Amino acid sequence: MKTPASTAVAPSLSRRARASGGQPINYLMQTALAQPELISLAAGFVDQGSLPTEAVDEAWRTLAADSSLAHAALQYGTTHGYRPLRELLLDELRAADGNPECMRELRPEQVVVTAGSNQLLYLLADTLCDPGDIVLCAAPTYYVYLGVLKNLGIRAVSVATDEQGLVPEALAEKLEQLAKAGELGRVKAIYVVSYFDNPQGVTLPAERRAAIVELAQRYSIEQKIYVLDDAAYRKLRYSGDDVPGFAAFDDDGTVITTHTFSKSFSPGIRVGWGILPAELVQPFCDQKSNIDFGAPNFAQHIVYEAMRSGAGAKQTAKLCDVYRTKRDAMVSACEHHMSGLAGVRWLHPTGGLYVWLTLPKGVDAGTESPLFAAALKAGVLYVPGGFSYAAEGMPIADNTIRLSFGVQSPARIEEGIRLLATAVAEVAR
Ligand SMILES: Cc1ncc(COP(=O)(O)O)c(C=O)c1O
Repeated sequence: MKTPASTAVAPSLSRRARASGGQPINYLMQTALAQPELISLAAGFVDQGSLPTEAVDEAWRTLAADSSLAHAALQYGTTHGYRPLRELLLDELRAADGNPECMRELRPEQVVVTAGSNQLLYLLADTLCDPGDIVLCAAPTYYVYLGVLKNLGIRAVSVATDEQGLVPEALAEKLEQLAKAGELGRVKAIYVVSYFDNPQGVTLPAERRAAIVELAQRYSIEQKIYVLDDAAYRKLRYSGDDVPGFAAFDDDGTVITTHTFSKSFSPGIRVGWGILPAELVQPFCDQKSNIDFGAPNFAQHIVYEAMRSGAGAKQTAKLCDVYRTKRDAMVSACEHHMSGLAGVRWLHPTGGLYVWLTLPKGVDAGTESPLFAAALKAGVLYVPGGFSYAAEGMPIADNTIRLSFGVQSPARIEEGIRLLATAVAEVAR
């Protein structure tokens, strides 16, 4: 019998599916899986040994002991998310930000819960932008988000950073350039990872937050420009004082804040959440209802119980202790093994999961580079920093590396840095 024509011809994938090919995250995960003996300092995964098995068990027992709660958890929920959870999240955030006047107006109706904050970032981009629209991002920024923008045909344009994150003067300059080029009308948002960012580990100080909100408002001429404050790592602080979130500097509905339980509790739970300006809530939920008409309700109930009982806060405190030790192991291994390498610098993060390494100018760290091959051969995997730069706006710094201390033990972190230093010394010779 002849093969039916439908199986003999190539499929015609959508433009968006084709644009999704070659995501750095897939390549890095495949490389790590293919060589399990590698010390991966690449993955943004979390510490395996401290996942909250007991807190989740306890939360489920509480739910199971009350059949109406257990039934509610196992039933569909609403597109916005579980109301008691949204109320609790808003109260907690207001308290963390010092309950400023401008946050008193926020309502639980503006809080939305999603299946991880990446879904929230994707749906927001899809709700706000058409192909060709612009989102301004720090250089460097969270590379998965750059993939989201590319997938939707949105232009990511990068803005200079220093050791305190995005530089407001550089942002003003970029907005001015775009205005002169007649492109201000295409700018929909300014995206910032505001605490211990991915990838540099830096935190924006309060004055810069206020300045960025003011710039967004000043340049909201043809349409509103939102500040998208991705606070994924806020709770992973190992020293120093917390800084109020962007919402504490916003009296005009300019700020969209996103958070996640992935880093401070468990990524397998996949609960993210955000606070949206009132006018975006319905359009966002309309988009969301095309996808799932509500994040997994069971996970939301578990997270709510863990927060209500205090087990969530205990878990976060435990994680901070674990990661502080790992951060110290990575930074002291860098000092020990890399101090002698001319032109190699690294930042010392006070929270989060990453150490950002800069190599001498001209030393390429990309996946096709001699350094990447030498590191793999030595047995260590890293994320090339170049992945974290948007294609437009600023030069891509290929001589950079993102190192994660989340997954490996302190001993393996030390060994991984030793191996990486050997590879750098070999290539930079
Ligand atoms: C800056 C940043 N934002 C958002 C996310 C997404 O997290 P999730 O989808 O697990 O909530 C991540 C994950 O690594 C991240 O690093």
